[in-house]
Amino acid sequence: MLVDCDPGLDDAIALLTAAHFAELVGITTVDGNVRIEHTTRNALAVAQIADLNVEIHQGASRPHVNKPRNARHVHGATGLGNVELPEITRSFNSDDAVGFILETSNRIKDVHLVAVGPLTNIAEALQRDATLPDRLSGLTIMGGAVVGGNVTAAAEFNIWADPEAADIVFRLGRDVTMVGLDVTQQVLLGTDQVTQMRQANTPKATLAADLLEYAINRSHELRGWTGAPIHDACAVLTVTHPHLFNGDRRPVNIELTGTHTRGMTVVDNRPSIAENHNTLVLRTVNANAVIKLIVEAITATQTH
Ligand code: RIB
Ligand code: CA
Repeated sequence: MLVDCDPGLDDAIALLTAAHFAELVGITTVDGNVRIEHTTRNALAVAQIADLNVEIHQGASRPHVNKPRNARHVHGATGLGNVELPEITRSFNSDDAVGFILETSNRIKDVHLVAVGPLTNIAEALQRDATLPDRLSGLTIMGGAVVGGNVTAAAEFNIWADPEAADIVFRLGRDVTMVGLDVTQQVLLGTDQVTQMRQANTPKATLAADLLEYAINRSHELRGWTGAPIHDACAVLTVTHPHLFNGDRRPVNIELTGTHTRGMTVVDNRPSIAENHNTLVLRTVNANAVIKLIVEAITATQTH
């Protein structure tokens, strides 16, 4: 698994989940929740604290067309809440995330590419090498929604931040799985999970507990929820535990020009549609099982 991310509270938990349940062959970063220098620093911090032996390559510092967006109101000014990070002794391996994605797909057979931030890097990779999908075992995206949005009434953050990139990915990608808000907003971790993580008393579990505690507080302040949706870890688990999710193959188009709908993933639910079922759109999840697996990954002392 290669994870492209914009850490980000839930990205950080997704990286730890991926490292536990999959062979994490690389991390690439993208500008998204916070600026690229922070998303990269945060990925380095997670890898250092969890002692992950994985390359980290920095990617795009801005979307294709949009000016850079952010979600600091959710993730904090630097992207990992108010966590006091240690001095980062690691540095990233290159600032050519796209080159690393393509090189890895040529070097390692059947890599599964999981994108949990804006799709800027993924779009560039597909434009640079249209044969990339031939070498992947799949392309799983945390993004979009069948119904609704979280940044606007119609758009989810990862798609909304760079809709042109998302349009390229949904048109050029193959074996795409869309893990949208319909699924991820069912997976709410609460104070019970914070307690379970703290009981593990390891550096990575303490980090995850701190991040989750911050996410729960922001989720409550912003939405009145008692739990925080750990969106990105859901995308990872659709690859390692697909039986916990359900959906169907549908055409998905990205709205680029709508006044109220720019960044919307337009899922064609018409029963008669026969063409171009390019995307597996997930709709339901066994949320309790997914929550347990996230806690298992965080509290484990060795990889799965
Ligand atoms: O809308 C949720 C997505 O946007 C998640 O990937 C979160 O990390 C933010 O990037
Ligand atoms: Ca993310």
